[in-house]
Amino acid sequence: MRRLIAGNWKMNGLASSLAEIAALRELTGKAACDIVVCPPFTLIDRAVERAKDSKLAIGAQDCHAQQSGAHTGDVSAEMLANIGARYVILGHSERRLSHGEDDEIVLAKAIAAHRAGLIAILCVGETRHERDEGRAIEVVGGQLRESIPERATSADLVIAYEPVWAIGTGLVPTNEQIEEVHAAIRQILEERLGSDGRSVKILYGGSVKASNAQAIFGLRNVDGALVGGASLKASEFAGIISAAV
Ligand code: G3H
Repeated sequence: MRRLIAGNWKMNGLASSLAEIAALRELTGKAACDIVVCPPFTLIDRAVERAKDSKLAIGAQDCHAQQSGAHTGDVSAEMLANIGARYVILGHSERRLSHGEDDEIVLAKAIAAHRAGLIAILCVGETRHERDEGRAIEVVGGQLRESIPERATSADLVIAYEPVWAIGTGLVPTNEQIEEVHAAIRQILEERLGSDGRSVKILYGGSVKASNAQAIFGLRNVDGALVGGASLKASEFAGIISAAV
């Protein structure tokens, strides 16, 4: 499967950061994988301009479930598609924790993303406490079963497994732990989507860097990465992209 490397800039990036998009577009022509960068809302339309006529896709980090209406401060999936975004990250643990997003909300947002023609990158992952209790698979399985839209296909759905305790901490699960969760995700995808579930990309996210990317990409059912901190500088992100052969 062709790998996907996704960069999540989170709440980082000013106009000057668009230079990173310009640097990345040069890399995408030669890259053996698909690449998407998800800057903050404020930079999306200019990032789309910078990435024009290249293979670099631009995405968003969230969307509202409704198409339009009285939702001050929110942005709909249709608005994102309208300015050229192609992906949207949904259910990131930072939104689950600080914005109270549960599986029902994530499902509604994923349906909205598909309605607007966007590819949903649906994030799942257990906390440290849940892993210590031996509940990682149960938690991830529950999140997936509750938030994958009924009509999802491999063309509009990507799953990102991000253990909460590995995000921005420098901690990475063991190879066995990653493979175990990714295998469980694959099984659920096949249950839900039939044979098409085999073609859904499953990304690993949490402290991915140029120095550990190759080992992670070598694991079974790992089809790419969702990268936070290391996606902010094109030079570091490039190291991860070149590991994705
Ligand atoms: O969306 C990205 C993840 O939260 C991973 O972030 O690479 O900084 O650990 P990180």
